[in-house]
Amino acid sequence: MKIVMLGAPGAGKGTQAKKIAEEYGVPHISTGDIFRANIKNNTPLGQQAKIYMDKGELVPDELVVSLIMDRFDEPDCEKGYVLDGYPRTIPQAKALDKALEDNGEKLDYAIDVDVPDEVIIDRMSGRRACLNCGATYHIVNNPPKTESVCDACGNELVQRDDDKEETVKNRLDVYHDQTEPLKQYYADAGVLYTVDGTKEMEEVFKSICSIVE
Ligand code: AP5
Ligand code: MG
Ligand code: ZN
Repeated sequence: MKIVMLGAPGAGKGTQAKKIAEEYGVPHISTGDIFRANIKNNTPLGQQAKIYMDKGELVPDELVVSLIMDRFDEPDCEKGYVLDGYPRTIPQAKALDKALEDNGEKLDYAIDVDVPDEVIIDRMSGRRACLNCGATYHIVNNPPKTESVCDACGNELVQRDDDKEETVKNRLDVYHDQTEPLKQYYADAGVLYTVDGTKEMEEVFKSICSIVE
């Protein structure tokens, strides 16, 4: 099962991708999480990515594509995967198609989690993230059991550097400009499905399950 999650920053791609991964036993691959882990460990990749991420800009395609191609070589990807935050540009989508084609495979579903910009701003300001395992929470909509502590791994929860309001606005602009055209790209390929991302998390998840089943 190979799934791409589409949607604006803060639409709930990560939240839903984690659930899909658990339910269907495929790895959840978030390019954003991989970059944040590299920033935390101060690797050369992290140092490069940080320059773009802090401004809400996209990391250059060549960096992202080589990272994701390496990830596909890991043995857990044999069962498929749910991609969260990749692809984000048409060239990235084409690179994915090419990699799939070379293996005689194809993408099964591109699921667009649809949420209007106004709702996004509120979600981002309340979000708290675990930089260890990638889990996300919301101080009102989805709080952790203990304040500032990750339910899944016990790590401290933090506000992401790029969740400041000005940066969020730029991320939304970048999304509409560079990523939203992927909806048409995947509609043309016949694999686009849209879910209403403003519903409760469990409801959104049910809609996704009914598509995937
Ligand atoms: P990335 O980490 O992918 O961030 P993003 O796309 O901006 O999306 P987010 O992770 O912010 O949101 P999400 O959709 O996962 O929502 P979440 O589930 O957390 O990328 C960060 C940066 O890395 C980019 O800006 C770029 O610089 C770089 N990058 C990454 N990939 C790249 C690529 N391929 N190419 C180039 N650059 C790349 O939910 C948000 C909040 O809402 C949470 O608090 C959650 O609890 C809450 N919530 C979720 N669902 C609901 C619901 N149904 N109801 C109420 N609240 C909800
Ligand atoms: Mg995310
Ligand atoms: Zn955690």
